Amino acid sequence: MKYKELKQEEERYVMATYGRFPIALDHGEGARLWDVEGKSYIDMTSGIGVNSLGYGNKELIAAVKDQMEKLMHVSNLYTTAPMVQVAKSLVLFSGLQGGKVFFANSGAEANEGAIKLARKYSYDKYGEGRSKIITLKNSFHGRTVTTLKATGQDKFHQYFFPFTEGFDYAEAGNLEDVKAKADDTACAVMMELIQGEGGVLPLDKEFVKAVEAFCREKDLLLIIDEVQTGIGRTGSLFCFQQYGIRPDVVTMAKGLGGGLPIGAVLAASNCCDVLTPGTHATTFGGSPTVCAAAGVVLSKVNNPVFLEKVKSKGEYIRQKLLAMNSPAILGVRGMGLMVGVIVEDGKHSEYVSRLNEKGVLALTAGKNAVRLLPPLTITIEEIDEALAVMREVFGEGGKAV
Ligand SMILES: Cc1ncc(COP(=O)(O)O)c(C=O)c1O
Repeated sequence: MKYKELKQEEERYVMATYGRFPIALDHGEGARLWDVEGKSYIDMTSGIGVNSLGYGNKELIAAVKDQMEKLMHVSNLYTTAPMVQVAKSLVLFSGLQGGKVFFANSGAEANEGAIKLARKYSYDKYGEGRSKIITLKNSFHGRTVTTLKATGQDKFHQYFFPFTEGFDYAEAGNLEDVKAKADDTACAVMMELIQGEGGVLPLDKEFVKAVEAFCREKDLLLIIDEVQTGIGRTGSLFCFQQYGIRPDVVTMAKGLGGGLPIGAVLAASNCCDVLTPGTHATTFGGSPTVCAAAGVVLSKVNNPVFLEKVKSKGEYIRQKLLAMNSPAILGVRGMGLMVGVIVEDGKHSEYVSRLNEKGVLALTAGKNAVRLLPPLTITIEEIDEALAVMREVFGEGGKAV
């Protein structure tokens, strides 16, 4: 079916919850995608940070196929080797020795798990009344009724009343504001180290370290939402490793399954036994099939040479974008292969549409960022192809096109 027919059927049968681009994708290889009309694109989105090893990765596919033939799913009433192996790798590779993992199916679910963990940690130790979680203004933590409320943006706090109570929002970079909001009723601080959906905004290192010290002093759990920044995206397995902090809880999803749905809550040794039988569960979390995929992703990504390449490719993109000297590009932000190209407020969607038309898929973030989250395996040739299109779209050397 061609795009037009597919779109008609979509409009008839699929809820219109997404502002989709006018493209129907069909297949992919490496960092390249083809639509149903046969047009090809360089993918600078990787399914919003999911397809970490690109499309058609032979090893990933073989591992998933083998596992599906052997055993596709069992409930969490039984143990499976792929699930245990991924948990072990996450604990060992993160440096949170003595920690443990809970598997979920998405980023929002991982954050829900972390929120429950933080509240129960506090309840077990201090009893009722200490349940507030401080998040940051402009953050994004998911779309469930609780994680919408955890998200520090008013536009997400509409329609679905009543939301879960017990969240307050501090200004990013403002330690005094965090301290003021984290009164005696608080049990945790939760933040992204680079606000992704909010506009590719990295937090200041000194601020993050100061929040960590404050959390230790007050026995607040420090939850780092690495749903978008984790699994090699910023050039280290987890972004917190470049910030030099030791979180109590790390949440992840997106890139971990390389394209299959998975989420995880990684808790350090001080709080990893808080969630006990009957207090948290999921039917699909940690299935052997998605864990087989995650095992391959972790074995590829947690490699210093691979991670160094993520950093250098990100740096290459940033330098080339700045060297365009385009009047449309007001700045470039981010770390590793999480890049935000800053344009005039409100113009980001227009640029993304033009990039799409010319064969480069890109995302928007916040009010003025064109966000690039290519597969971590993207080659320099694929990057150069995408940059040539960006040069046309953003305009070079003072000539906006
Ligand atoms: C930082 C962050 N947390 C949570 C989520 C929610 O993840 P999911 O869409 O898998 O529920 C996202 C998704 O974009 C995210 O970027």
